[in-house]
Amino acid sequence: MNSPQPNRFLDVTRADGVSRELRVIEGQLLVCQGCCCGQTEHGFPAVPLDEFKRQWKERGFRLRVHLTVTGCLGPCPLANVVTILFGGETVWLHSINAPEQVTEIFDYLERLLDAGTFEPPTGPLAALHFNRLVFDAASPGEWRSEKRPVAKA
Ligand code: FES
Repeated sequence: MNSPQPNRFLDVTRADGVSRELRVIEGQLLVCQGCCCGQTEHGFPAVPLDEFKRQWKERGFRLRVHLTVTGCLGPCPLANVVTILFGGETVWLHSINAPEQVTEIFDYLERLLDAGTFEPPTGPLAALHFNRLVFDAASPGEWRSEKRPVAKA
């Protein structure tokens, strides 16, 4: 990974009038572990959380990409879900169940940091990339304006 961007800090004044210094970072990785993702007792695969934490620390992302383990991100039927914020874009990934996929995600993040600009995921991650937000212009898939009718059993 290229050397980090120069440190950037911002002074922000809270509602109570106290000014705090904030590190400005390059990206954020949100790993869902909410009501469905990782809930093995409900039949969902486990989230490889230890691998996310291990690689985040060992590969030196800590000051550049924040790792957040979060509650439900919304698209539960696609568990396990991961969201990446980078370069003003949002990347949603589904079915992130295995340690090898964690490596692919950090390899992808490393490519983004090295390039200093957004590009959509390629390789195995491309098949797991989906639209969630109307402004997810870079993500694949065709939108419908109507909800699919519910099939009668
Ligand atoms: S619990 Fe992960 S998307 Fe809802």
